[in-house]
Amino acid sequence: MTEPVLEVEDLRVRLRTPRGTAHVVNGLTYRVGQGETVAVVGESGSGKSVSVLALLGLLPARVATVTGRALLQGEDLLTMAPERLRQVRGAGAGMVFQDPMTSLNPVLTVGRQLVEGLRAHGDMSKAVARRRAAELLGEVGLPDPEGALDRYPHELSGGMRQRVVIAIALSNSPALLIADEATTALDVTVQAQIIDLIAKLQADHGTGVIWITHDLGVVAGIADRVLVMYGGRCVEDGTVDDVLEHPAHPYTRGLLGSLPDLAAPAGPDGEVPDLTTVPGLPPPPTDLPEGCVFWPRCPVRSDARCETEQPPLAPVSSVYGHKRSSELEHRAATWCTEEGTSGAGSPGDGGAFRAESPEGGRA
Ligand SMILES: Nc1ncnc2c1ncn2[C@@H]1O[C@H](COP(=O)(O)OP(=O)(O)OP(=O)(O)O)[C@@H](O)[C@H]1O
Ligand code: SF4
Ligand SMILES: [Mg+2]
Repeated sequence: MTEPVLEVEDLRVRLRTPRGTAHVVNGLTYRVGQGETVAVVGESGSGKSVSVLALLGLLPARVATVTGRALLQGEDLLTMAPERLRQVRGAGAGMVFQDPMTSLNPVLTVGRQLVEGLRAHGDMSKAVARRRAAELLGEVGLPDPEGALDRYPHELSGGMRQRVVIAIALSNSPALLIADEATTALDVTVQAQIIDLIAKLQADHGTGVIWITHDLGVVAGIADRVLVMYGGRCVEDGTVDDVLEHPAHPYTRGLLGSLPDLAAPAGPDGEVPDLTTVPGLPPPPTDLPEGCVFWPRCPVRSDARCETEQPPLAPVSSVYGHKRSSELEHRAATWCTEEGTSGAGSPGDGGAFRAESPEGGRA
C-alpha cells in the first residue's frame, strides 16, 4: 500500500435547503494513496460531487456545514485557513469539473490563465511559462497550441475548453487530482489521450486521483480502487477487481447489472437487450429513510434491522470467503454479509437485478 496522499475520515455535509436540511454526505471514510486512482461511482444525486467540493472548500459557507477530517499530505483541508486553502487548490490539488466554464475566466485569454497559474506556484519568467503553457496545451491534444494561447474561452469548442481546464489542473503536477465527469463530454480518442496523460503524471509525480464517473468501462480500465456511493454513504469499496468481479452489496449488483452485456446475442432485428436498471428512485437527502439507506429499493431485504439501523461496512471476505486480489479490504455495508441473516448472502445471488456467474462475476 502506498503512502496516503489524502485521508478522508467521517466526512459529513449538510446543506440548508428550502425543503429542510439535506444530509448529502453521511460519514465517508477513504484514502487515496500515492499514484493511486480511486473511482467514485453511484447514481445521480448520491453526493459524489458535493463530497469532493467539500474537500476543497468550494461549497457556499452560508448553506453548507462540513465536518470530519480530510488530510492532504497530512494537512487538514477542512480546518485550513482560507489563504492556505487557496494555495493548496492551485498547487496541491487540481480539480476538473464536467462543465469547463465553471473553471475558466471568460474575460482572460487561455494563455494568461495558464501562465498566471504556472507563475503563481513556480518560479519562472513569463516567456518560460508561456512556452510551458503551449507544451501543456499540446499534451492535452489541443490543435495549434501556440495560437490557442491568445484565444478567449468562448472562441473554443466545449471539448477544447475542457482540455484547457485539464491542462491548468495538471500544470503544477498536483499531489491530488480530482476529476468529476471530466472526460464525459470528450470523444473517446481524446478521452484516451487524457487518461494516458494523467497516468504519466501519476507515474512521474505520484499524483493520487479521485475519478468520479458514471462510466463503469472507464472504471474497469483505469481505477485501482472503487468506492460505491448511495444516499451520501459508501455502501461498498475495494479493489477494482474485487468490486467488479464480486459485488457484494445489492446496490452495486444493480449498478453492474445496468451495464450492457456486449457478449449477449442481438435480437432477430439486430436490437440489443434493454439495460436492467435498479428499480425505484434514490431517496431525497432531505428525507433519508431510517436504517439502511437502500432499504426502500432493496430486492433482498429481510432482516428486521434493515428498517431501523444503519448497517456498518463489513469485510466481505470474512463471510463469503472471496479471495482478495490484494491486502486491501473489500467492504460492503450490509447485514447480508452476516451469516444467517438476509437472503443476499450467497455470492452468486444477484438479487432481483441480474443473475451472475457461479464465481460471482458478471454473467
Ligand atoms: N447547492 C445545493 N443546494 C441544495 N442541494 C444541493 C446543492 N448541491 C447539491 N445538492 C443536492 O445534493 C445531492 C447530491 O448532489 P451531488 O451533486 O453531489 O450528486 P452527484 O452524485 O454528483 O450526482 P451526478 O451524478 O448527477 O453529478 C443532490 O440531492 C443534490 O440535489
Ligand atoms: S439486505 Fe438490508 S442491509 Fe442489506 S442492502 Fe438490503 S436493506 Fe440494506
Ligand atoms: Mg456530480
